[in-house]
Formats: sequence, C-alpha cells, structure tokens
Amino acid sequence: MPSGLVSLVELKGGPGVWGEALVALDRENLPGEAWELATWVDFMEVGVQVILGLEGQRPVAFLSWQPLDQGLVEILKLAVTPASRRQGWAERLIGTLVEKIGPQTKVWLELRESNLPAQTLYLKQGFVSIGRRKQYYSNPVEDGLLFEKGT
Ligand SMILES: CC(C)(COP(=O)(O)OP(=O)(O)OC[C@H]1O[C@@H](n2cnc3c(N)ncnc32)[C@H](O)[C@@H]1OP(=O)(O)O)[C@@H](O)C(=O)NCCC(=O)NCCS
Repeated sequence: MPSGLVSLVELKGGPGVWGEALVALDRENLPGEAWELATWVDFMEVGVQVILGLEGQRPVAFLSWQPLDQGLVEILKLAVTPASRRQGWAERLIGTLVEKIGPQTKVWLELRESNLPAQTLYLKQGFVSIGRRKQYYSNPVEDGLLFEKGT
C-alpha cells in the first residue's frame, strides 16, 4: 500500500459525487465491459454496492458487488488503475468486503479465462474455481470461469 493518505469510501444506493470517477476507472481498466453512468445508477438503485479506494482525493480502485441471496454475494467488477497496481489495493478491497459481509457469507465471481493476474489474485485470496461458462464473454468471445470463496 502506498505510504500517502489512502482511504475507502463505501457507496450504496447510488454513485453520488463519485459517478464520473467510477465510470472513468471502469472504462480505463475494464474496456469492453464498462458501464455508462446511467447503468451504474440503475444497478445501484437495485442493490449493487461499491467500495472505492482513494489515494488522497484521487479514486484509484474499486470493487462492485451485490447480494444474491441469503449468505451469498457476487463480486461484479474489480479494478485498480495501472499506476497503483501490485500495491495491495485489490487484496484490501476484497478483504474489506469479506469483513463487511462476514466469514459465513459465500462470495462468487466470474472472470475471463485469459485473465491470469485476476485468477492468481483470487486463488491467493482463498477462492477456488468451481465451473466454466462456455463463450460467456463477448468482445472478444471467451469462456468465463466461476470462482467461489466458501465459508
Ligand atoms: C487484477 C487486478 C484487480 C489486481 O489488482 P492489484 O491491486 O494490482 O492486486 P494486488 O496488488 O492486491 O495483488 C495481490 C496478489 O494478486 C496477484 N497478482 C496481482 N496482479 C498480478 C499480475 N499482474 N500477475 C500475477 N499475479 C498478480 C499476486 O499474487 C499479488 O500478490 P503479490 O503482489 O504479493 O505477488 C488489476 O490488475 C486490474 O485492475 N486489472 C484489470 C481489471 C481486471 O482484470 N479486473 C479483474 C476482473 S473483474
């Protein structure tokens, strides 16, 4: 983690003043699957939440997630701006989510088969691969791998 002032902001119900920053981070780090601001607003109205990471006042990382069922949540997106990678941001965001939902809650997520950095991250965090969805992704077309962190 960088030595400067870092903090986390939890967003629920809507992106509020952080909307543009969230859209920019999403576009920069997840091109091809980034959401427009209106989509963030709609999804957050129906339960999607965000943990945003700041260096000073600058947003550099986010994790978005949603409760799926009793005892089960899904991570939808996780992204860290390139200059801030390999400094523990992703681990910190996942750790914050797990602390927030409690150790009894399962976490699911899906990622591209080719995304080896993310797979390495999730395996290190105790997730296991539990399935594959053929050609789940478009732009480019690719299988999705389903990961789970159990209780
Ligand atoms: C994947 C991503 C979120 C990782 O964020 P990060 O803040 O750099 O990750 P961390 O610093 O917390 O790394 C934790 C561990 O993950 C693994 N890891 C992270 N990036 C890695 C890479 N490029 N190659 C191999 N392992 C990697 C390592 O085990 C690392 O531990 P270490 O640094 O002690 O070796 C970031 O690279 C990213 O935003 N990528 C583009 C978007 C994306 O693919 N999101 C995930 C799918 S939604």
